[in-house]
Amino acid sequence: MQHAFVTGAAGFIGSNLVDRLLADGVTVTGWDNLSTGQERFLTDALKNPRFRLVRGDNLDLPALTTAMPGADFVFHLAANADIKDGWSHPRKDLEQNTVATFNVLEAMRANGVKRIAFSSTGSTYGEATLVPTPEDAPFPVQTSLYAASKVAGETLLSAYAEGGQLDEAYIFRFVSILGERYTHGHVFDFYQQLVAHPDRLRILGDGKQRKSYLYVQDCVDALLHVTRARTARAAPHRTQVYNLGTAEFVQVNDSVGFICAALGLKPKLEYTGGNRGWIGDNPFIFLDTKKILATGWKPKLTIEQGLGRTLCWLEANRWVYEARPPAA
Ligand SMILES: NC(=O)c1ccc[n+]([C@@H]2O[C@H](COP(=O)([O-])OP(=O)(O)OC[C@H]3O[C@@H](n4cnc5c(N)ncnc54)[C@H](O)[C@@H]3O)[C@@H](O)[C@H]2O)c1
Repeated sequence: MQHAFVTGAAGFIGSNLVDRLLADGVTVTGWDNLSTGQERFLTDALKNPRFRLVRGDNLDLPALTTAMPGADFVFHLAANADIKDGWSHPRKDLEQNTVATFNVLEAMRANGVKRIAFSSTGSTYGEATLVPTPEDAPFPVQTSLYAASKVAGETLLSAYAEGGQLDEAYIFRFVSILGERYTHGHVFDFYQQLVAHPDRLRILGDGKQRKSYLYVQDCVDALLHVTRARTARAAPHRTQVYNLGTAEFVQVNDSVGFICAALGLKPKLEYTGGNRGWIGDNPFIFLDTKKILATGWKPKLTIEQGLGRTLCWLEANRWVYEARPPAA
């Protein structure tokens, strides 16, 4: 990989990936419409002569096609990454996660770029009947528009690969990601609440939802480790699907306990009730990661360590709450 094209380059995961690619000597074109991303996350990258940021929208196929020449690999991370509000705007996931993925693939086809990594999600397993959930779990019932639109994106990648338009397609199904530049998710919401009113904390659901998390640098390591090993090249259908997570899970209540202890607070906990916080909230997400572990990648941080890094970063970067208020 010499020249990577990164969609969602100014986002939480994208900007961490950009920094790592640049440190590894790769030339990077970042593509972002800055809808949720922050140019500030690219402050260091923008000083690097091997980096170029193009402001553009995935729904603008001609502009996307024009921005891509020279790239030999695409990391497609841009998306509507918020699952909770799907039913407030049912078209958004379809456009931002499915049509946008089609456009990225078409821009690649026009430019002869044949290798792609796509950020999918563990939410595609819906409420899995098999836990820990392996990549080849029975095709699941979808519980959110977000996950449905990501499944559609995944299937487009494999159809392009099967149709000879791609040489290598990598699909990564992430658990929730934590770490520096984290700007959405329950830790973001909890921290904001506790700064505003340290005496009480509102928790969606009953707090017993069990979730798995992965530190962002471990996520970036995995993307680079697998794509550099080129595991899709000889794979059936030139497509590889990997779950990405840790071998642990915690209850939402455990992470609340950790956050409160780290901040030295004892707020009154107010639960909205029920075992799901919102439509599509999966009460138990825990992915089987044997397949990616077998490639030689392994996470360096535990969930608790990742949570700790996230809190430190939020504490030092409260500006993100002005720049990116959480969804209501
Ligand atoms: N963060 C997680 O816990 C998590 C978990 C599972 C999957 N993912 C996936 O990982 C990817 C990155 O997530 P993130 O947490 O960094 O989110 P993010 O919102 O921080 O980043 C997304 C980036 O894409 C950009 N973008 C959005 N729509 C665009 C468009 N139409 N055209 C161009 N740019 C656009 C945004 O401005 C932002 O910079 C997403 O595909 C998300 O679905 C994230």
